[in-house]
Amino acid sequence: MKLELRKITKKFGDFTANDQIDLVVESGTVHALLGENGAGKSTLMNVLFGLYDADGGEILLDDETRVFAGPGDAMAAGIGMVHQHFMLVPVFTVAENVMLGHEQVRGPAKLLDLEAAREKVREISDRFGFHVDPDAMVEDLSVGAQQRVEIIKALSRDARVLILDEPTAVLTPQETDELLEIVGQLRDSGTAVVLITHKLREVKAIADTITVIRRGKVVGTAEPTASQEELASLMVGRDVSMTVDKDDATPGEPMLRVENLTVIDEDTRIKLLDGVSFEVRGGEILAVAGVQGNGQTELAEAILGVVDAVEGSVTLDGTELMGRSIRDNLDAGIGFVPEDRTEDGVVASFTVANNLILDLYDREPYSKRGAIDPGVVSRNAEEQVEKFDVRTTSTEALTGSLSGGNQQKVVLARELARDLKLLIASQPTRGLDVGSIEFVHKRIIEERDKGVAVVIVSSELDEVYALADRIAVMYHGRIVDIVSPDTDRDTMGLMMAGAHGDEEEAA
Ligand SMILES: Nc1ncnc2c1ncn2[C@@H]1O[C@H](COP(=O)(O)OP(=O)(O)OP(=O)(O)O)[C@@H](O)[C@H]1O
Ligand SMILES: [Mg+2]
Repeated sequence: MKLELRKITKKFGDFTANDQIDLVVESGTVHALLGENGAGKSTLMNVLFGLYDADGGEILLDDETRVFAGPGDAMAAGIGMVHQHFMLVPVFTVAENVMLGHEQVRGPAKLLDLEAAREKVREISDRFGFHVDPDAMVEDLSVGAQQRVEIIKALSRDARVLILDEPTAVLTPQETDELLEIVGQLRDSGTAVVLITHKLREVKAIADTITVIRRGKVVGTAEPTASQEELASLMVGRDVSMTVDKDDATPGEPMLRVENLTVIDEDTRIKLLDGVSFEVRGGEILAVAGVQGNGQTELAEAILGVVDAVEGSVTLDGTELMGRSIRDNLDAGIGFVPEDRTEDGVVASFTVANNLILDLYDREPYSKRGAIDPGVVSRNAEEQVEKFDVRTTSTEALTGSLSGGNQQKVVLARELARDLKLLIASQPTRGLDVGSIEFVHKRIIEERDKGVAVVIVSSELDEVYALADRIAVMYHGRIVDIVSPDTDRDTMGLMMAGAHGDEEEAA
């Protein structure tokens, strides 16, 4: 099915998020939609999917004008969408989620719907090799599996136009390869695919055509043969350096000492962290690499005290952190960028200005004698928004109205604004555009050069190599080894599969 968008315009108040956007997606092709954070990509797709009313323009399917009053209409017309933020209900099973929103009948006959949904899940799962159990509870699934459920959900209605809004942002490199394979299969079977991603390698690997938007307008199209540098500069409107310059680290005294840290999953009794020990000096960056789910998240959280360790010790500049409150630990000079910004990073219903002082609102200079000083709060916000290039209509806008990447920038701006001894950042550039990644990497290196001890958890090897002075590789809750960034990718790959660890166990 051919999809055509003509002169789509969408405004939020005075702000024009989409300005007369034209886009044609032929059946049997993958059309990549590129653009910096806040460019208007998700907005355009939400218009297409019937979630937003356009202020102008037309949607055509096979040259026929269509009007979608809601997602139900769009789905009925053959459009499926996988959203940037998961829309699954965690306490429902996979089949129940797939059924949601298109129940055929009500009452007792609903059971038949559920049986049909389970069958559908099995069928699509088999067809694409998804290994998704229709009766599994969504909250028990890995993010990769949840992403596959979203795709099953979209495909279960025989979508002939499939919109994928940053489907790979939360996936491991292996899961990403699998997903791209599936996208290729769908394309070959005639589906028209719109793919939004910030990862230019993926664009080059899978896209047939590329449209770039900037500040709500189409600024150009490109061929997949274009270099990553060309695509990046078209997106951002300036040259972007794809590698960060950094001097060798000049590490000082050990700042963070982790000894024998052990975390146990309360339900399964599995050791998520198994006797982890290491040191990070002030002025160096330790990157924690590994296939997601091998204890990296728990490590970051256990250092701050977000999860409780059953054993071990964590000291910051000589002070024991374990057993203290998260707030006390933040006050001791820890900056923390959580892996999941929407869950733990920002409060969507608070303004940007208030999110930028989330834990500081009752302190000087933001509060004096128990009263918040709105002038100081607002000046701080203006400054941070400017520095981090947060695209928002105003510092008083609700943070939930910001684009995904801009919410991430709010978290980074807040955490990097304080005087730190230790920065712990999980997937710091997840969802950011190439220009913003360049900026954030520079800022992290600046912190290092100021003498801050930095721990970066990243499932992106490119990011690990760009930032690390030393790399800790984790497997099954343990550190396999800590190696230099000169270690080649193949060796890293082996270590991430546990190679060294197994030898140690055998010895
Ligand atoms: N519901 C809303 N209310 C007000 N403003 C909004 C709303 N949704 C989006 N915007 C604004 O529209 C702009 C475009 O947002 P959109 O989510 O489409 O960006 P995007 O290109 O998908 O970015 P990202 O790569 O970060 O996901 C943003 O600057 C955002 O602040
Ligand atoms: Mg988006």
